[in-house]
Amino acid sequence: MKRTFILLLVPVGLLFYTIAFSQPLKDFSDCTTSGCHATQTKFEYKHSPLEDDCTTCHETSAKEHPVPNKREFKLVESIPALCLQCHEIDMEKKSIHSPTKDGECLGCHTPHSSDTEKLLTAESGELCIQCHDSYTSNNFVHGPVAGGMCSGCHDPHASDNAVLLRREGQEVCLFCHTAKKDVQSKPSVHEPFVKGCLGCHKPHNSAAKYLLSADVPELCYQCHSTVEVALGKESEVHGPFQKGGKCYLCHDAHVTDFKPLLKAEEKQLCFQCHNKKITKGERTIRDIEQCVNAKFGHEPVANDGCSACHAAHTPDNFFLLSAAFPQGSYTEGKAENFAHCFDCHDSALMEQAESATATQFRDGKRNLHYVHIAREKARNCTTCHETHGSKYPHIIAQKVPFGKWTMPMKYTVTESGGSCLTGCHKELGYDRNH
Ligand code: HEC
Ligand code: HEC
Ligand code: HEC
Ligand code: HEC
Ligand code: HEC
Ligand code: HEC
Ligand code: HEC
Ligand code: HEC
Ligand code: HEC
Ligand code: HEC
Ligand code: HEC
Ligand code: HEC
Ligand code: HEC
Repeated sequence: MKRTFILLLVPVGLLFYTIAFSQPLKDFSDCTTSGCHATQTKFEYKHSPLEDDCTTCHETSAKEHPVPNKREFKLVESIPALCLQCHEIDMEKKSIHSPTKDGECLGCHTPHSSDTEKLLTAESGELCIQCHDSYTSNNFVHGPVAGGMCSGCHDPHASDNAVLLRREGQEVCLFCHTAKKDVQSKPSVHEPFVKGCLGCHKPHNSAAKYLLSADVPELCYQCHSTVEVALGKESEVHGPFQKGGKCYLCHDAHVTDFKPLLKAEEKQLCFQCHNKKITKGERTIRDIEQCVNAKFGHEPVANDGCSACHAAHTPDNFFLLSAAFPQGSYTEGKAENFAHCFDCHDSALMEQAESATATQFRDGKRNLHYVHIAREKARNCTTCHETHGSKYPHIIAQKVPFGKWTMPMKYTVTESGGSCLTGCHKELGYDRNH
């Protein structure tokens, strides 16, 4: 009872004091010109409402100002309602930045003037890292992150996208990396590239080059484990994989003109390395480009490319072939040992001792393929044929490999047969009409 009485006395006393003793308050427009509140307007970026009147935001019923140790002014509205009178921040969006939701506009903005754009209390990068990681500790830091431009990607207030992102999916990145946008109509497009960039890249920083979430090939194996498994076969590992899978030698991770994501037309891609001899242990691998450019070609090389026969990274057989084929000059003369050739050709060409149709390589009906191959110590097809192309018709080889020696082969073709002169035997001819 006593307390209420005392509390009532306070405002009554104040009213009496005001009427009796205070000086009339000066015009508000004087607030800064008098020099008292010059700081409010002194910085480069000024808040527009300052041009009107301080009372847009401040009000008082006091008659005297200033009074030491007293606050005669209050805001016309509390924060954030005051700000939201004039500014629209959609608080209905899916995600609202925590300090914005809490109405802490003044944690990031000054209401009067600032030497930073957007009336910020600190440079935008500095501002965000008051509460967040600066993301600059790794080896590779993304340009806009290093430049403190967090709001290039994030909306500091609210967004309908996850993690306050201004844009979604690929657009997060393509907004600046516009060159990556124009390429999406190319013939070969990597599926994760279309979905977005975060399947492989980190947005802020990374220990791996190009902001990748892991180095190549580990990155690729995250989704292409079958390639990794296949490479586990130590027996026949293709050169480019021997010191780690350098996928980027042949593939681009984004888009290319050539399927499947190949950096060049397939043959040209292979010729980047197979345009010269390559030493492999005791052996010398031939210059394949030279063979392919010879006068007589093997149809699948010309029409279907190298993958018609070779598996660039998942070899099951010698020479990275997709089916069995012998190494060396001799093997047992069974068709299955030449499975590779008989994927496309009829094995009758070596299996029928006598025939008028199985092969053209015959003397009368005597099948000369049979003679050379259908025996315990069969001659390999490569004794007589150069699989990639030759200056002779029927892709007859120019040279015959024999141990470490190569013998020149002189082949002449006639209307109904031909003849060979090699180190294997004296010149012998065959004639189908014989
Ligand atoms: C857009 C609204 C707005 C306008 C216009 C405005 N102020 Fe303020 N002012 C604020 C807010 C918000 C605060 C902070 C109140 C708080 O911290 O509770 C503030 C605080 C102040 C303070 C307290 C000290 C400080 O700097 O925090 C002074 C003094 C002040 N304003 C003077 C002025 C003067 C003088 C003008 C006119 C030139 C003016 N204000 C115009 C919104 C405004
Ligand atoms: C009486 C209306 C009004 C109130 C109240 C108001 N503002 Fe503004 N504010 C404006 C106008 C007008 C602009 C200029 C708009 C423009 O340039 O597009 C502006 C601009 C801004 C800008 C951008 C400055 C820039 O350089 O682009 C920020 C940030 C801002 N206000 C924050 C606030 C905050 C925080 C509050 C609350 C403390 C607030 N405003 C209260 C009217 C108001
Ligand atoms: C976490 C810090 C932060 C908080 C909290 C915050 N803002 Fe901002 N605000 C910014 C930044 C940063 C920008 C500049 C964005 C840019 O560069 O595009 C900005 C820009 C603005 C702008 C200029 C228009 C625009 O979108 O570019 C207005 C107006 C604004 N804020 C009002 C507010 C209001 C009102 C609140 C409180 C409800 C608020 N802000 C809370 C950081 C903040
Ligand atoms: C005053 C402290 C503060 C400042 C300053 C601040 N933030 Fe935040 N931010 C927070 C808090 C608190 C959270 C919620 C944390 C959480 O959910 O783990 C958050 C969350 C975030 C998120 C994650 C949102 C989500 O949905 O997961 C992003 C992105 C973000 N802030 C960006 C920024 C940017 C950009 C800036 C500078 C413009 C900034 N923050 C400045 C306090 C701040
Ligand atoms: C190039 C665009 C970009 C820039 C610039 C950027 N971010 Fe992000 N940020 C993202 C993306 C994308 C995510 C979501 C990552 C995810 O989903 O894995 C993210 C996530 C976040 C998160 C959520 C937690 C996390 O680490 O995933 C915070 C907090 C954050 N960013 C703060 C910042 C701050 C602070 C800056 C400035 C120093 C900044 N961002 C600059 C794109 C960016
Ligand atoms: C706000 C503009 C902006 C956005 C958005 C942006 N970047 Fe960048 N990015 C840059 C700049 C600037 C560089 C540096 C340019 C340079 O070094 O050539 C860069 C460089 C890169 C690099 C090359 C790094 C290097 O080491 O060469 C990669 C990779 C990259 N960004 C990926 C992304 C990804 C992924 C996203 C989406 C999450 C993204 N960027 C979004 C501006 C942006
Ligand atoms: C499948 C994984 C993957 C995806 C998805 C991906 N990238 Fe990359 N990105 C890479 C790899 C790997 C490199 C390194 C390039 C190299 O080694 O030649 C790279 C390099 C880059 C570079 C720097 C070199 C250059 O080409 O300019 C930029 C920028 C880049 N990516 C942007 C993007 C953008 C933007 C997206 C989304 C639209 C994206 N990436 C999606 C794997 C990916
Ligand atoms: C985020 C998962 C992911 C990552 C990481 C990834 N890929 Fe892919 N990749 C896919 C998907 C999904 C496809 C399409 C489906 C398929 O063919 O298996 C694909 C297809 C491919 C294709 C065949 C394209 C076609 O046209 O048939 C190649 C080649 C390829 N990826 C290479 C790579 C290389 C090289 C890397 C590492 C730089 C890599 N990928 C990393 C998911 C991924
Ligand atoms: C020497 C060149 C070369 C290298 C290096 C290479 N590739 Fe390939 N890749 C190819 C060729 C050629 C094809 C097409 C094969 C076909 O059409 O049968 C292909 C096809 C693919 C395909 C789609 C078909 C499949 O096998 O699933 C994927 C995925 C792929 N590569 C992933 C990789 C990855 C991952 C790496 C690194 C570990 C890699 N490649 C390294 C040449 C290469
Ligand atoms: C980046 C260089 C490079 C590219 C590109 C390349 N190769 Fe090779 N290739 C090599 C090297 C090096 C060897 C020898 C490997 C060894 O020493 O075992 C080799 C060996 C081979 C062999 C012979 C294996 C043997 O034991 O005789 C074949 C077949 C082969 N490559 C096919 C291809 C095909 C098909 C392509 C295209 C899809 C291709 N290569 C692209 C470097 C390359
Ligand atoms: C019709 C099937 C076929 C096609 C198509 C084909 N190859 Fe071959 N390739 C073979 C056979 C069979 C061998 C093993 C016998 C030999 O050495 O000729 C071989 C061997 C090789 C060798 C190892 C040569 C050596 O001296 O050890 C390389 C390298 C090679 N091929 C590259 C290529 C390239 C590059 C292409 C595409 C321009 C290609 N091949 C197209 C069937 C083919
Ligand atoms: C991918 C299928 C394919 C494979 C594998 C293949 N060939 Fe062929 N070959 C063809 C086609 C198609 C022709 C042209 C049509 C024809 O003459 O039957 C051809 C033609 C030939 C010719 C006749 C050239 C002429 O001008 O008369 C010879 C010789 C030949 N192949 C040898 C071989 C040998 C030896 C092998 C195994 C080392 C082999 N081929 C593997 C598809 C293939
Ligand atoms: C001793 C040498 C020699 C050997 C070994 C040899 N070929 Fe032939 N092949 C020839 C000659 C010569 C012709 C050309 C016949 C003609 O048209 O005059 C020929 C023609 C061919 C043709 C064209 C169609 C036909 O039968 O006339 C094919 C296909 C063929 N060979 C496949 C093979 C295969 C597969 C092997 C290994 C299994 C092989 N050759 C081994 C000499 C040989």
